[in-house]
Amino acid sequence: HVSLKPFPDNFLWGAASAAYQVEGAFDTDGKGLSVWDVFVREPGRTFEGSNGDVAVDHYHRMEEDVALMAEMGLTAYRFSVSWPRVLPQGRGQANEAGLAFYDRLIDALLARGIEPVLTLYHWDMPQALQDEYGGWEDRRVIDDFGDYCALLFRRYGDRVKTWVSLNEQNYNLSNAYLLATHPPALADRKRFYAANHIAFLANARAIMLFRQLVPDGRIGPSFAYSPAYPASCAPADLLAFDNAEEFTNHWWLDTYCYGRYPQVALAWLREQGEAPDILPGDMAALAAAKPDFIGLNYYYTLTYTDNPPDGVGLQRINTTGQKGSTPSSGVPGLYRTTPNPQLETSNWDWAIDPTGLRIALRRLTSRYALPVLITENGLGEFDRLEDGDQVHDVYRIDYLRRHLAACQEAISDGAALLGFCAWSFTDILSWLNGYQKRYGFVYINRDETDARDLRRVRKDSFFWYQRVIASGGRER
Ligand code: BG6
Repeated sequence: HVSLKPFPDNFLWGAASAAYQVEGAFDTDGKGLSVWDVFVREPGRTFEGSNGDVAVDHYHRMEEDVALMAEMGLTAYRFSVSWPRVLPQGRGQANEAGLAFYDRLIDALLARGIEPVLTLYHWDMPQALQDEYGGWEDRRVIDDFGDYCALLFRRYGDRVKTWVSLNEQNYNLSNAYLLATHPPALADRKRFYAANHIAFLANARAIMLFRQLVPDGRIGPSFAYSPAYPASCAPADLLAFDNAEEFTNHWWLDTYCYGRYPQVALAWLREQGEAPDILPGDMAALAAAKPDFIGLNYYYTLTYTDNPPDGVGLQRINTTGQKGSTPSSGVPGLYRTTPNPQLETSNWDWAIDPTGLRIALRRLTSRYALPVLITENGLGEFDRLEDGDQVHDVYRIDYLRRHLAACQEAISDGAALLGFCAWSFTDILSWLNGYQKRYGFVYINRDETDARDLRRVRKDSFFWYQRVIASGGRER
């Protein structure tokens, strides 16, 4: 670019979290259990049996955390509400103590000029609904989710204007129904597509209710977008890349934004007997619920190559933290992943690709013509707490600096970028990896087995992001 456009004045300089990963207080003040509270107790599910019972105890340290956000200069904070904290049985009687916690959080943020960005669902399905009818697998969840959302719209809609509906439906349900790494831990493609179809309908219901109850607000889903690259210019690799975009990205994005499943993918699934049951009215309901923006969770790109019909199937993600240990994963006959020799990787084997973020923003802008809010981007690494309470996370600063540069390039390309919520504000419980994989600007003094003093320690990246925000993104 000859001249880069600046970040807009009203750009949201944010950071993010999710209820289960920070709150703790898993059975406090009348909270019901979520599927994660139960799942993590099954042997072998998470690293060293780590769980969110205490997490980083944000439920009890919320004031201190918000004070740190204010010190840093955040202008937005993305958090999620725990469905079973406010509706212990998933429906019916609301838990006033749970609702009041989020009132206090929202008011604390607003008092410091920080815009709350509220996520309705970050994976913590009430266990009661999972037990009763299988959560996302039963259409009854559409009404129950709608009622839960309406409760929050009525309660917080006067103060919260930016809402995220479902967080990473694609990633969460892939783990839940294909890779067996999130509850209910199944590997069944038919049920995967069925659950997704119902989740799409629930997302649409939430958006329609939002239009009535918070007419001056904006809402959109957050999508885990890993833009696909072809491994080479061989036509077979291009076909694999095309399949990957259709099956792993457009399946969700087209449906959210246009209420339309990609036709080639749908035909293939019908052939396999794995397409979802689409009832009369379903597609019209999906098409009517266009979001106001796309929430983008961006971590890496994925590179694809040809995969013969007897080729490799889906493999579990790398949870070992060992470089180079990620297996190729794919769908026989469609595609499989392969390392990209052009890209460096993190110690967790994730490709580091700032240009991929620019590509993601350009693709979203051109294909969907919607503004984008980056709801997650960040680097999970092994951090070290050094003498004098210091954490020199220069690698995180480098990662974020390059990704913010890509944002500015994408803005200059024409993307309407609303804001950037770094993942994460404090360190959080990584769902499957405990606390070895850290993302925060603020270090939390604890590990998997020992909650220690849960002390908050500002990392080097804290002071760096503080300067970035103060300069409106100019000083990086
Ligand atoms: C996203 C989730 O998938 O990635 C977050 O929305 C999660 O909740 C983040 O923490 C990083 O994943 P991981 O596995 O590295 O902790």
